[in-house]
Amino acid sequence: MESPFKADVLKGKVALLTGGGSGIGFELATQFGKHGAAAVAIMGRRKEVLDSAVSVLQSHGIQAIGFQGDVRKKEDAARVVDSTVEHFGRLDILVNGAAGNFLVPSEDLSPKGFRTVIDIDSVGTFTMCHAALKYLKKGAPGRGTSSGGVILNISATLHYTASWYQIHASAAKAAVDSITRSLALEWGTDYDIRVNGIAPGPIAETTGMSKLVPQETKSEARESMPLYKLGEKWDCAMAALYLASDAGKYVNGTILIVDGGLWLSNPRFIAKDDVKQLSQVVERRSRTATSSKL
Ligand SMILES: NC(=O)c1ccc[n+]([C@@H]2O[C@H](COP(=O)([O-])OP(=O)(O)OC[C@H]3O[C@@H](n4cnc5c(N)ncnc54)[C@H](OP(=O)(O)O)[C@@H]3O)[C@@H](O)[C@H]2O)c1
Repeated sequence: MESPFKADVLKGKVALLTGGGSGIGFELATQFGKHGAAAVAIMGRRKEVLDSAVSVLQSHGIQAIGFQGDVRKKEDAARVVDSTVEHFGRLDILVNGAAGNFLVPSEDLSPKGFRTVIDIDSVGTFTMCHAALKYLKKGAPGRGTSSGGVILNISATLHYTASWYQIHASAAKAAVDSITRSLALEWGTDYDIRVNGIAPGPIAETTGMSKLVPQETKSEARESMPLYKLGEKWDCAMAALYLASDAGKYVNGTILIVDGGLWLSNPRFIAKDDVKQLSQVVERRSRTATSSKL
């Protein structure tokens, strides 16, 4: 689908995206490049994933570089952030998309497995933000004094209610949202950095979707969705463009849900046509049955 944004909304911006080599992160990197970003740096652990993502980005005419690193490691975070600025002279946008998830009943999940997901999603997000702060502040090297940079943290909607077999990711993403709000408050005030989040629902053609909603259950999942379709990576990228560009210049500390309204929904316990037919009958019966004199 064609973007509704002008092609230069991110003109001259330099972005670093953890998890930018695949899935939603890669789509964000692509759309940032197509909307005028001067350069995008992507971070992940697998070199082959980064290499192939960088060649696709470059084939679109986007200046791109891949940095191998693990967001759980403070040294990796510092090295990747520093290298981004060494290569491109500044850092304007940090996207924290790196995450791990798998379906597991709580009783089968070891505390070690629980901690691993918290370490990647939550601690990793904080570690990257912490490493990037010195470059995102208003007046930081290469940025000038007009405004600070932007942080986007990718979370989920799992923790808004409760999600089956994802106790680890739910807890981790709840922490990510909390980090988003705390940093928005502190760093918005002190450094003019806007910190927002994107909470995707089920997004088609992603690793997350294929791991968490196995093939066999997909059609059922679609039918229970308010908009009767899955989200696309593009939807997340458009949300990111809004938040990262000046369109969102007064938006700070928000978590933009991109799920078609799914988290609000409950399965229908009665079909709509049945309600239409039944409602008058039930109402009449209730009036006759009531002994109230009001
Ligand atoms: N897909 C969905 O429907 C959905 C729904 C809600 C939320 N989300 C969120 O959206 C984001 C992207 O999801 P996706 O489905 O597109 O998944 P994905 O393609 O698996 O993306 C995850 C990326 O994170 C990187 N990564 C994982 N652990 C890392 C680490 N320790 N250090 C550095 N990089 C690491 C992975 O690369 P390496 O393995 O090479 O490191 C990979 O590129 C995630 O935050 C996810 O929780 C997705």
